[in-house]
Order: sequence, then structure tokens, then C-alpha cells
Amino acid sequence: MDTALIHQQNGGERQNGAVAQAIVPAVAYSFADCDTAIDVVSGKKEGIYYGRYGNSTLRAVEEKMAVLENGEAALGVGSGMAAISIALLAFLKQGDHVIVTKDVYGGTHKFLTNLAPRFGISFSYVDCTNVDHILRAMQSNTKAVYIETPSNPLLTVLDIEAVAKITKHYNIPLIIDNTFMSPYLQRPLDLGADVVVHSATKYLNGHGDVLAGFVVGKAEHIQFMRQSIMGDLGQVLSAWDAFLILRGLKTLGLRVERHCHNAHEIASFLESHPLVEKVFYPGLECHPQYELAQRQMKGMGGIVSFELKGGLEAAKAFMDALQLSMISFSLGDPETLVQHPATMTHFSMSDEEKTAAGITDGLIRLSAGLESVQDIMADLEQALAVVNQRGGKLLWETV
Ligand SMILES: Cc1ncc(COP(=O)(O)O)c(C=O)c1O
Repeated sequence: MDTALIHQQNGGERQNGAVAQAIVPAVAYSFADCDTAIDVVSGKKEGIYYGRYGNSTLRAVEEKMAVLENGEAALGVGSGMAAISIALLAFLKQGDHVIVTKDVYGGTHKFLTNLAPRFGISFSYVDCTNVDHILRAMQSNTKAVYIETPSNPLLTVLDIEAVAKITKHYNIPLIIDNTFMSPYLQRPLDLGADVVVHSATKYLNGHGDVLAGFVVGKAEHIQFMRQSIMGDLGQVLSAWDAFLILRGLKTLGLRVERHCHNAHEIASFLESHPLVEKVFYPGLECHPQYELAQRQMKGMGGIVSFELKGGLEAAKAFMDALQLSMISFSLGDPETLVQHPATMTHFSMSDEEKTAAGITDGLIRLSAGLESVQDIMADLEQALAVVNQRGGKLLWETV
């Protein structure tokens, strides 16, 4: 993996070739003759004919992503939500039903709740930590199962092999959002999944300056998604953004190891803090799927969520008091970022849906950055001290 991240589809030739990938901004591609053009547009021959269906820089990162996820092919698109919606729309049509983990990213929840029903697609949110619930939710028109593991924001870990056994039995695709792990820490296709989706906006690019997504899976599925969904809806990724991801991927391993290390230290620190009610991190023994996480994931990831005592007011006071960490909706960046799921990433959920999903008012999601972990923890500690002294009332006694 470490070598593939650097060398796979690097574009460099052995001698006198550019070591970095070229950026090809061309929208139009020319052909030697009509027959070649006809074969490329019909898909008989591999090639690029118009920028809305791909570009050559994008092809390089798509091929790299396919290798990293151990899939036959990959599709690079303009955002993680484009990847998610394309993957779902590829397998669902009017009258179909999809089973979705109840612990799902807010944007995916919003797409399924608001948009998909307009096209006659129904869904059931299911607690997939117990696979019996998936079996019970199966309907005659269920055409896919969609999960996210670990989940955003509560880091619920699902048993990919166990879910895949069910989808294989029913002969329907299992789609997995692998954003929180990246292929560096988890390869769902090796565990029986059929399709992997990513928000490449996060760890894959890793620098907070590209919005992108990937779908990885079987070549025939990817071809259909490219020709009949991405191209027609106009969701392609630009050559410049594809180049930035190729560049970012070279350091994915180093970055992810540091993110994991920092997150683990932060989670342990928060776990012992008197103002913290609960910490959600798969690397802590108190996590409900600790054993599964150790078995399934190569590392525990860079996201830590935690619930502060004192609800919304305490959460806001804490976030406002941070001096190094930033209030921001994204994750997987070099900077430590915090956000409040109930009012930010999951704002579109109703109060009942939030309660059912365990998104409380005191919950904060932290994306551990690449800074010195001592500096991050000092920042968290001073912000917790500010919360503690709010209104002159001590919630806990400082030692
Ligand atoms: C797990 C997960 N999947 C998908 C997305 C959507 O990605 P994008 O913002 O690139 O559309 C996000 C965004 O935060 C996410 O956290």
C-alpha cells in the first residue's frame, strides 16, 4: 500500500519523464478517424471523447483508486455526495427500496429522505449493528444495502463480512462509505462489499482544498455510472482537482498514521476528563464494537466524538473558547477541526431523528489534525476550563 500510494499511476517514465502527473485540462479530444471516435463513444474502445465523461488526469487517479481499493474500476466525481448519489441511483429505480444504516452521514440522510422519494425510491433506516435487523427489514423490492463504517459522527462500527453474507444471499449489492477509513485502514471490497464510495474531500486529498468523491467497484457498474449518470448529470471531477488528489494520495499513509495517533491520545485524554460525559472512539476499550474494530480496521481513524456535560450551551462555550482547533464542517484536514453535529452537519434531521440516531445537544465531533498532539490537548484543556468557569459556577473542581 505505501509503495502503491507513491508509484501507482504516477505518470513518470523511467527516463526523462515528468515524475509528477501532468494536468490535462482539455475538454475536447480528437480522433485519428471516424471509426475510432464511434468505438470510443459507444464504449467498444477505451478512450476519452468529451470532458463531461472524464479527462486523462482524472483517469490516472481513478486507476490509482481502483488499485488502492482492490476494485476493477473507479469513477472520480465532483463531491462525496455525487459519489453516494451515483452509487445509489445506479442500483435503484422507481419502486425500489434500500436498507440504510441508521448511523449515516447527514447529507446521505438528506438525499434519501428529501430527494429519493421524489423518484419513487423508498428506504428503511436500520440499526445494522445487529444483522438480524437487516434480515427483518428486507422487502421483495429491496435492491441494495447501504452502510457507513465507522459512521459519522458516532463512530459506530459495522461488521462488513456479516452484512456482505446477507447481501450475497439476496443477490443485491452492498455499498459502503469508506470515507472515515480510506483504503489505507480498511478495504471493504476485500471483505465482501460490492461498491465503495468516498468523500475524497477528506483524507484522500487531505488538505482541505478539493471537493471530490469516488465510486469503486466492478468495471461494468462503473462504466454504467460514468456513461449514464455522472456524464449525463454533469458531475465530473476537473483535471486540476484530480491532480491535487494524486498529489495528496502520495502522503496518505503518513498522514493517516499521524491522524490515528493524535486521535487516540485525544480520546484517552477526553475519556478521563470530568466535564466529558462520553467519548466515541473505536480505539477505546469502552467502545461497543471495540473487538470488531480491532479485527476489521488497520487503524482506528482520526475522528473522535464526545458528549459534554451541560448540553448545547456547554458545547457552544467549549467550541467558542478553542484557540488552535477550528470550528469547521469538514474533516481529515491537517488542521484540527470541530463541529456540532446537531446544529451543523446533521441539522436537516428532525429532533426525533436526531434522538434516534444518538445525536445529542452536547455532542461534538473532532477531526484530529496533524499538529503536535500536546498542543491540541492543551487547547482542548483550556477550552474545557473556560466551560467549567462559565458564569462563575464550577461544574467540577480543578485539582
Ligand atoms: C462519511 C461522509 N460521507 C460523505 C460525505 C460527503 O462528502 P462531500 O462533502 O465531499 O460531498 C461526508 C462529508 O462530510 C462524510 O463525512
